[in-house]
Amino acid sequence: MRNTRIVEMLEVTEAAALAAARWMGKGDKMAADNAAVEAMRSAFDILDISGEIVIGEGERDEAPMLFIGEKVGAGGEEIDIAVDPLEGTNLTAYGQPNSLAVLAFGPKGTLLNAPDTYMWKVAAGPAANGAVHIDASPTENVRNVAKALNRPVEDIVVCILERERHNDLIAEVRASGARIRLISDGDVFGAVATAIEGTGIHLYLGAGGAPEGVLAATAMKCIGGTFMGRFAFRNDEERARAEKMAQCDIDGVLTMDCLVNTDEAAFIATGVTDGEMLRGVKYFGQGARTHSIAMDNKTGTVRFIETVYRTGVEKFWVRMD
Ligand code: FBP
Repeated sequence: MRNTRIVEMLEVTEAAALAAARWMGKGDKMAADNAAVEAMRSAFDILDISGEIVIGEGERDEAPMLFIGEKVGAGGEEIDIAVDPLEGTNLTAYGQPNSLAVLAFGPKGTLLNAPDTYMWKVAAGPAANGAVHIDASPTENVRNVAKALNRPVEDIVVCILERERHNDLIAEVRASGARIRLISDGDVFGAVATAIEGTGIHLYLGAGGAPEGVLAATAMKCIGGTFMGRFAFRNDEERARAEKMAQCDIDGVLTMDCLVNTDEAAFIATGVTDGEMLRGVKYFGQGARTHSIAMDNKTGTVRFIETVYRTGVEKFWVRMD
């Protein structure tokens, strides 16, 4: 897969972020999401790829654009693409931190087509690589990360989605001595932040969307951290959908290698609202500034990229040019 794809694909998440951020704080998460989806979809059009959306906005009959199985691009190299045009729709709608426009890509047939179900997840950054396991208790994971990072458990911060299903988890982490960064949404950020110095997050635990799990797993694979998951099906239909995927044992541990079955995947996220990892979109008169992270497993690079769109920003995502 060509490395130069990173820059092309960066424009896709930038387009989504530029469109979504206009809806920051407007209280309309659907409008924010639609803007991101439309912008992302049209930004794919000019790329010389034969891309297939393996993780997207839902099944063909429920999503008009970027649905699972949709072909995108003007033709060329065959690749799998996982997208979340607006990860954290409520975060954008209410002007809260860490909403992102996200995508991952890899050679055809490599990214798991995860069903829209839940996944228990654990993630830790490169410095604690191998220290966590999805089947370990929260207390064990906290202790092992503390040991790997050579600090007391009191100095560990665990990111957890604030949900009722996490009440026991939260209680146990508190009892372990670690501190907690509770988030209302956006667990791609939560997982990836463990690998980014300066976010103050060392461990991610909890159950969130399975598609978001594949996106986070790609990032963690690219950056040399650990991600592990386990499906948490809510019904037989979700289980039946998962059974169609040959790549993983759906009742077993979901390793990074089964979620992302290649060493050539890449992950890109552009900030929509400001956060600990990325700054959000800033508009200034005739232009706008975006801030992104791009990770490429093949070249072992992690780039933080700031882009200024000087003019014609409004036209960029509708591709009028
Ligand atoms: P959006 O789809 O509104 O962007 O929400 C994203 C998210 O918070 C993910 O980050 C997370 O994996 C999932 O929703 C959690 O789902 P639930 O809100 O059902 O607990």
